[in-house]
Amino acid sequence: MQIFREIASIQKFIIEQKTAGIKVGLVPTMGALHQGHISLVEKSLHQTSLTVVSIFVNPIQFNNPTDLRKYPQTFESDVALLEASGCHAVFKPSADEMYPFPVQLKMDFGELDKILEGKFRPGHFSGVGIVVAKLFNIIRPDVAYFGQKDYQQFRVIQKLIDDLSFPVELVGGEIIREPDGLAMSSRNKRLSAEARKTASVIFQSLLNAKKNLPEKKLEDVRIEVEKMLQQKGLRLEYLELADRRTLAVLQHFDANIPSVLLIAAYMGEVRLIDNMLV
Ligand code: PAF
Repeated sequence: MQIFREIASIQKFIIEQKTAGIKVGLVPTMGALHQGHISLVEKSLHQTSLTVVSIFVNPIQFNNPTDLRKYPQTFESDVALLEASGCHAVFKPSADEMYPFPVQLKMDFGELDKILEGKFRPGHFSGVGIVVAKLFNIIRPDVAYFGQKDYQQFRVIQKLIDDLSFPVELVGGEIIREPDGLAMSSRNKRLSAEARKTASVIFQSLLNAKKNLPEKKLEDVRIEVEKMLQQKGLRLEYLELADRRTLAVLQHFDANIPSVLLIAAYMGEVRLIDNMLV
């Protein structure tokens, strides 16, 4: 497995591969890899001939400086996991390599980045859009793989691809969960062993909400979720029901609208998100 740290060197490598007709798959990550990432790598290995994983903790997508400072960085174990998976190349640039000049560009995804995560993390999706556009320009993937735990991010990337006509096919990977249901996330690495066990209440509360939605008012379902979390020491930031395709936030459950429940909650200072199709 080759490791590239400079844009120029990976670009040269990719141009050689593409000239030889090789189909390139990209799995963009911020490192601290887990089975969720590896499942995306496996998809790429299956569907393309060259799998590149980027590892870059993108400073411009963090609206909370503490979250950025404390974001887990586990490069050595990431490399070991990727080697074992059969991944072909890793792109691990420094922040100076990616952003030699202060970034002034802003991306606006309209209503899509004002709701849910966008409402609580202003500027987040602009930062995600910019880094993903840069990665697409550098790696020129034929297919890009993103996990569905970041459900809204997946929609944002699809819009980025459509609006800027990137010749990239977007492929999603389903949420990979721990045996107790907690969605795998790099941020789980910041939880103490005790908090890690308790955090599975997020999944339990989603299951409960999904079960109750057809009979109860959405507001009552939200109150129940909040209580379940509070009892375990978590703080609910939001629980929303949204149209699965447009992500328009819904005020009521409607069995005719394929929808998704989306949640964000704090376990101490660690912010966790999850979602469940309804
Ligand atoms: O989902 C992530 O890990 C990040 O938001 C991404 C897509 C790698 C962009 O930094």
